[in-house]
Amino acid sequence: MSTTTTDAVPALASVEDTIEQFREHGYLADRKLATTVFLQTRLEKPVLLEGPAGVGKTQLAQSLAEVTGRRLIRLQCYEGQDESKALYEWDYGKQLLYTQILREKIGQIVSDAADLTEAVDQISAHDSIFFSERFLAARPLLEAITSEEPVVLLIDEVDRADEALEAVLLELLSEFQISIPEIGTIEATHLPLVVLTSNNTRDLSAALKRRCLHLFLDYPSPERELDILRSKETGLQDALAARLVEIVRGLRELELRKAPSISETIDWARTLAVLGVDELDATLLSDTLSVVVKYDRDLRRAGEALPKLVDPNAVVPEGHDHGHGHDHTHDHPHPHGSDHGDDDVDGREARKAKDAPGRHDTDYYGAPGGLGTSRKVTPGQGDRSFAGRGARKRPL
Ligand SMILES: Nc1ncnc2c1ncn2[C@@H]1O[C@H](COP(=O)(O)OP(=O)(O)OP(=O)(O)O)[C@@H](O)[C@H]1O
Ligand SMILES: [Mg+2]
Repeated sequence: MSTTTTDAVPALASVEDTIEQFREHGYLADRKLATTVFLQTRLEKPVLLEGPAGVGKTQLAQSLAEVTGRRLIRLQCYEGQDESKALYEWDYGKQLLYTQILREKIGQIVSDAADLTEAVDQISAHDSIFFSERFLAARPLLEAITSEEPVVLLIDEVDRADEALEAVLLELLSEFQISIPEIGTIEATHLPLVVLTSNNTRDLSAALKRRCLHLFLDYPSPERELDILRSKETGLQDALAARLVEIVRGLRELELRKAPSISETIDWARTLAVLGVDELDATLLSDTLSVVVKYDRDLRRAGEALPKLVDPNAVVPEGHDHGHGHDHTHDHPHPHGSDHGDDDVDGREARKAKDAPGRHDTDYYGAPGGLGTSRKVTPGQGDRSFAGRGARKRPL
């Protein structure tokens, strides 16, 4: 319907320049990530970022908007979301208001109708007026397509959406267009830069992956994590920040339900800076451990491992070597009483098994609501996703 304009992104001249520009906006990208982002701006393909929580997936899209000077439009995905909340819906209130105001006019149209059938026929000839762009309420995806100025579109946590919605995304991601049965196909005015993120709570379809530049974003290298800490000006002395990064890395090696992410390292550094520490000791770290570890069982495991992480020569009581978390798997009842929790950890083994088939069957980082939940599409889901169309009341 409208003509698509290709908007080169002059802000990013090369991979090096991408790293530099993102750094200036407070985001420290490694080469692999910067290359993906640079390619995205040249190949005009969406980027799909997969990885554990808190590694900077959402922040990347926000920083991309800042770097390119574009507005950020965000679609936060959730279970049960249907396309009327993601694409568009008919503005029923406005349709109703117009029919009220135009009551007299509508009366004139049907005034010479012999019976009800003829009256309905005459009105239906004017259907298209009420199902035109004037009465369309754009939701994030349509908004991104029709925006007057080029935007960054963030489709956040796409793995939380039902597969029916994922299917709806396919047209947008490959053609940058949206088909509306009553109107036709609306093409992007400007091509948006699209970033999708996923926490791997379920496998995404091959069709979706094929349309995107795919990148697995893992925890950063110690150098980059320290760099990020420095850039956040946490107030913690540099030498202590470096030690803290090592300790957090040690915690990530444990079999925890939720491994600490970059944001938790930042929070811990800020906490320790506020306490004015000039030395990292196990007691102090243990007292502040709840800043980085959020589950009761994880707290115990991390607490027991801390002395060794702080000082590898520390004497740890018999049976408390946490290099093998499974030894303790059945020692502690699961905080949520679920059978699945111990298999659903975000530790070393879980990350090693990333590419094993079926790894996404359970929630990747163990959100309490998602434990052991198989996210298969039920026959009703597709119906629900499209139910809105049938359920939408027509004004006439
Ligand atoms: N490369 C980075 N440079 C600067 N800050 C970063 C970087 N990576 C992560 N952060 C910091 O970590 C915080 C968490 O990142 P973000 O919210 O983007 O994670 P996420 O991967 O989207 O997590 P979730 O899956 O939980 O949504 C950000 O607010 C940011 O402060
Ligand atoms: Mg996020």
